[in-house]
Amino acid sequence: MEDILVEKAVKTGKTRALPVGLPIKSNYILGIETSCDETAAAVVENGRTVLSNVIHSQIDLHRAYGGVVPEIASRAHLEKISFCVDKALEESGKALADINAVAVTYGPGLVGALLTGLSYAKGLALALGVPLIGVNHIEGHICANYIDNSRFKPPFLCLVASGGHTALVIVRGGDSYEVVGQTTDDAAGEAFDKAARALGLSYPGGPAIDEAARTASGNRAINFPRPRMSEDNFDFSFSGLKSAVLNYINKEREREARPDVPETAAAFQEAVVDVLTEKTVRAALHYKIKKVALSGGVSANSALRARMRRACKENGLTLYLPDTRYCTDNAVMIATRSYFDYCAGKYSDFSLNAAPGLRLARAGE
Ligand code: KG4
Ligand code: ZN
Repeated sequence: MEDILVEKAVKTGKTRALPVGLPIKSNYILGIETSCDETAAAVVENGRTVLSNVIHSQIDLHRAYGGVVPEIASRAHLEKISFCVDKALEESGKALADINAVAVTYGPGLVGALLTGLSYAKGLALALGVPLIGVNHIEGHICANYIDNSRFKPPFLCLVASGGHTALVIVRGGDSYEVVGQTTDDAAGEAFDKAARALGLSYPGGPAIDEAARTASGNRAINFPRPRMSEDNFDFSFSGLKSAVLNYINKEREREARPDVPETAAAFQEAVVDVLTEKTVRAALHYKIKKVALSGGVSANSALRARMRRACKENGLTLYLPDTRYCTDNAVMIATRSYFDYCAGKYSDFSLNAAPGLRLARAGE
């Protein structure tokens, strides 16, 4: 990446200041993200400096259904995409003529939603005569750790915990993502959403549980299982935990009691945080990787961030946390991921199709 090259050049000198007159040509990537229920556009300079970050959330449209309705999502993306791109350009102070490449999520995600952003990005790249760069959404989440952080570099171990994915990924370079553990059923975010729904909290469930748990007493009378925590591998499972919460709530109702929402939310959150932290730290120690990073919507969770900070410190690991606004879906992370490909001249063909089931390869695959 260009800024890494610049940093190297600077490091060889006696001072850390940039040599006067060093020709650094900035470049600007327009990122587009429409894989689920956020229509997002952003302009990013040299892969890491955020010039604009526009997100139009569809949460209000889907809330009544308790989850994302694909058909509604596609239509809403179509309605909002032009507005978001225009706003991202305006806020960045850049014109279309300044854009050097268009980066867009092509998978995984909802097929109709992905196609909306992908078609828009293709049209724009074609009209501007600039490269199109298709981005894997999961790699985008991981790359949120580079945003506004010019010194962060691989290798590192990244926990990806979002609504659709939970995985431990070893990142050895801008183009190297190796899964060493993943969920065998529900994603962590999905478990948060389902537990919240059972507790009568609003959608999306993660922030609602995070909030409710803050008001819990701290005398943990409820104890939920920690699925697969003691197994000698780095895989996760969250569907049993979700069922344990549902069973607990039903039992409380059977004895005509109302479940205590803050206490139940805190007990559930603690179980998820325990498992995610334990496995992440164990994987970092096992693979002898000193840098640990978090990514995905669940990494915005306040209890997870606090626990990871503590656990990494106790184990001599350095923790990197993206700003919470870059944990959930955004287009900055898409532009940031694409910058590695842009620098390597790896552009997408205009026949690029949406890949709803796109995934990262497991180690050894
Ligand atoms: O990364 P993301 O925006 O979208 C996907 O790629 O899935 O993640 C959304 C997920 C949702 O399940 C949401 O409940 C969860 O992230 N989430 C949280 C928090 N904020 C968002 N989970 C726990 N605590 C939070 N503060
Ligand atoms: Zn996401």
